[in-house]
Amino acid sequence: MPTQLFERSRRGEHALLIQPHAGGPPDEAELEEFAELARSAGATVATQVTARLDRPNPATLIGSGKLEEVKAAADAVGADLVLVNHPLSPGQERNLEKILERRVVDRTGLILDIFAQRARSAEGKLQVELAQLKHMATRLVRGWTHLERQRGGSIGLRGPGETQLETDRRLLQKRVDMLQKRLEKVDVQRTQMRRARLRSELPRVALVGYTNAGKSTLFNALSGADAYAADQLFATLDPTVRRIALPSGPVVLADTVGFVRDLPHELVAAFRSTLSEAREADLLLHVVDAADPLRDERIRQVDAVLAEIGAGDIPQLLVFNKIDRIEGAVSRRDAPGEDRERVWISARDGVGIDLLLAALSGRLMQRRVVAELTLPASAGRLRARLHALDAVRGESHDEHGWRLSVDLSEADAARLATQEEGAEALRELLPGPAEADAGLTG
Ligand code: GTP
Repeated sequence: MPTQLFERSRRGEHALLIQPHAGGPPDEAELEEFAELARSAGATVATQVTARLDRPNPATLIGSGKLEEVKAAADAVGADLVLVNHPLSPGQERNLEKILERRVVDRTGLILDIFAQRARSAEGKLQVELAQLKHMATRLVRGWTHLERQRGGSIGLRGPGETQLETDRRLLQKRVDMLQKRLEKVDVQRTQMRRARLRSELPRVALVGYTNAGKSTLFNALSGADAYAADQLFATLDPTVRRIALPSGPVVLADTVGFVRDLPHELVAAFRSTLSEAREADLLLHVVDAADPLRDERIRQVDAVLAEIGAGDIPQLLVFNKIDRIEGAVSRRDAPGEDRERVWISARDGVGIDLLLAALSGRLMQRRVVAELTLPASAGRLRARLHALDAVRGESHDEHGWRLSVDLSEADAARLATQEEGAEALRELLPGPAEADAGLTG
């Protein structure tokens, strides 16, 4: 089980937040996001302090004058925890704890803690524990050295010639190895499930978006499923997959983990599986919190991550959610200079879901069938209709019949496949209602 940084009983503890910033004024948005992360971990934000990092102190990151101010502020508000929105080396963390006389946790530690609380699938849990152990390994020295001193020399408590610290390191490494093996197994299973899903050739739709945009809520609204939704960041840590029926035919819908900027690199692996759902999708529903004052920036951040994972070219619908919180009407519209259609909805109230389903169906209808077809001599009418649709890119004739290279919409292909003689080859290219859905839930 992933361990939690803050004991349950200590949740709700008072945190002082430090926001380091280089030059210029501190970024209010970053401050607010960090406070939101702290609240997500179960802390209450007692106060926030900004600290310029013009010349970072290698031992403590933050200068000594500033640290005095932080200590006084922490004393004044009775903070028992200091959260720093910056990566800290183990040495810096230790030094800060000594000076501030309280627990100090950096951004990575905080996000790991949230992930530990949220992981749902076996794979998610394993990945979080692995990330935690790796993070911990670099910090083992502190807090364990006293054990080494106390126990050093105690018969039976250590291996031959080993200090306690070495034993702890060895145990940790064993656990890391074991977790890695289990993860590899889970990964193989997941790949097999995904293959089965791909074989079923149903169109795949993935929900993506900044954390807290309302993906899980929308996933539930669309699928009638009961995925976990909470007003906290990262409520979703694992992909959830459902098959849903649309006017255009059945599709596979996958929920994915919420994106967040500056994701600690230790956690990138925890995203791998869920992001592959996005990478393999035919269409992305990019969910945006319409009431978020930073929504345009969030859209850019999500787009940047999508580009990084190789999903930048997948068509998107922009879904502006939480319309109940802003002045605006449920609608579908195109925006100037933007090739993504925008749909405005409230997933919570179930308003605009019908419009979204129609938009989704419309987009999927635009899916194209690009293939080489061999048509029997009896398929003359089909060949003529393909030409009439301007769908033929090249053709030749031999003893087997016509060989056509075609490119047409799936909707046209579906129509021809049911209406025309000799269309077996075309029919085979289309997803059918009776497709296997192995590997799917629901
Ligand atoms: P992560 O798992 O963190 O990525 O979040 P998510 O995008 O899956 O968001 P989730 O569905 O958990 O919703 C986040 C919060 O927004 C919850 O408190 C929801 O109840 C709330 N929410 C979702 N949709 C709406 C909506 O249409 N209107 C309002 N007012 N709140 C909503």
